[in-house]
Amino acid sequence: MDKKNIKNTNLKDKTIIMRVDFNVPLDEKLNITDDTRIKAALPTIKYILDNGAKRLILMSHLGRPDGKIKEELRLNPVAKRLQELLGEPVDKLDDCIGETIKKQIQASKKRLILLENLRFHAEEEENDQNFAKELAGLAQIYVNDAFGTAHRAHASTEGVAHYLPAVAGFLLEKEINYLGKTLENPAKPFVVILGGAKVSDKIGVIENLLKKANKIIIGGGMAYTFLKAQGKEIGKSKLEKDKIDIARDILKKAEQNKVQILLPIDNVCVKEIKDNAEITLAGENVPPDLIAVDIGPKTVDNFRKALADAKTIVWNGPMGIFEMDKFADGSKQIAEYIANLKATTIIGGGDTAAAVAKFGLEDKMTHISTGGGASLEFLEGKTLPGIAALSDK
Ligand code: 3PG
Repeated sequence: MDKKNIKNTNLKDKTIIMRVDFNVPLDEKLNITDDTRIKAALPTIKYILDNGAKRLILMSHLGRPDGKIKEELRLNPVAKRLQELLGEPVDKLDDCIGETIKKQIQASKKRLILLENLRFHAEEEENDQNFAKELAGLAQIYVNDAFGTAHRAHASTEGVAHYLPAVAGFLLEKEINYLGKTLENPAKPFVVILGGAKVSDKIGVIENLLKKANKIIIGGGMAYTFLKAQGKEIGKSKLEKDKIDIARDILKKAEQNKVQILLPIDNVCVKEIKDNAEITLAGENVPPDLIAVDIGPKTVDNFRKALADAKTIVWNGPMGIFEMDKFADGSKQIAEYIANLKATTIIGGGDTAAAVAKFGLEDKMTHISTGGGASLEFLEGKTLPGIAALSDK
């Protein structure tokens, strides 16, 4: 990586402000249902505290409060969980900028401080320079360890980097190294598995990876726009009508680039998406009254054969509605298969990471990204503003 990291930074007696992505899912009682992102930030937090820093100020967003205070989106549950995981007291403040906050930080007896949800201020998402300067004014060094938010040009991810020495934390670096190395020079055969509901979310990824991959496997809701483009019957399955032409173009480009594209050849279908739905297994064509909700067993077999000799696999997007157990089998079979291959396996964040966690296979993958949208933009070959803004080595 061509950006400075905390290892080449003197932290001694310095106050550090670090952007983390503690945007974690909460249930109705405000319990954290998945603390992966908090755990993923611990190595950098520990390193900073163990290497002589005077104080570490953490900042994050949670949810999308749109510039207003929303009680249910305060970072208090995160502070509690962080404290439990670290065994170090955390001083959670109720705002992130202003004179009171400055005074509270100076008066704090704790080394670790967590500011309130940055997005309670509209200026955060506006990348307002005064807001960024206020954040920068709290510290002497800025660390970005929020890979999950690195695709956003916000005050805490981009703006602040212009006012302080700005370096990457270990998580950000690890994500860039895995995703970046994989894309720059993938060991071949390189097979990409794409899924999820919408083609529109993945067009950029496909276009970028058509230049690099040997095979692209497509499942999930997005597959049916491609099948429609091939003239197949898709019943009432997910379709993005305005993307049929793009799907057709992609299929043509793939042929020209000699990239094999694999689509479902059989489908798990239902009349209605509900837990107790009756399942019908359809072939390549989905009957008019049915919705495809998962890939069928012949497709699983076909996808496995395509994956068997892969040396690098990138997977972004589930093969069906995996959140419902009845329709999770296709994603599960693929996850189990790649978990046992010798290949380098990189899992995009968001839904794919959640699927792999649901099947208990996290430890068997080479790397699971903590970024959903961020990993997608990385795979599209885009420059992420949160990374670009960091100081060069
Ligand atoms: C995510 O969960 O993908 C990140 O935390 C970014 O959140 P956002 O999509 O609300 O910017």
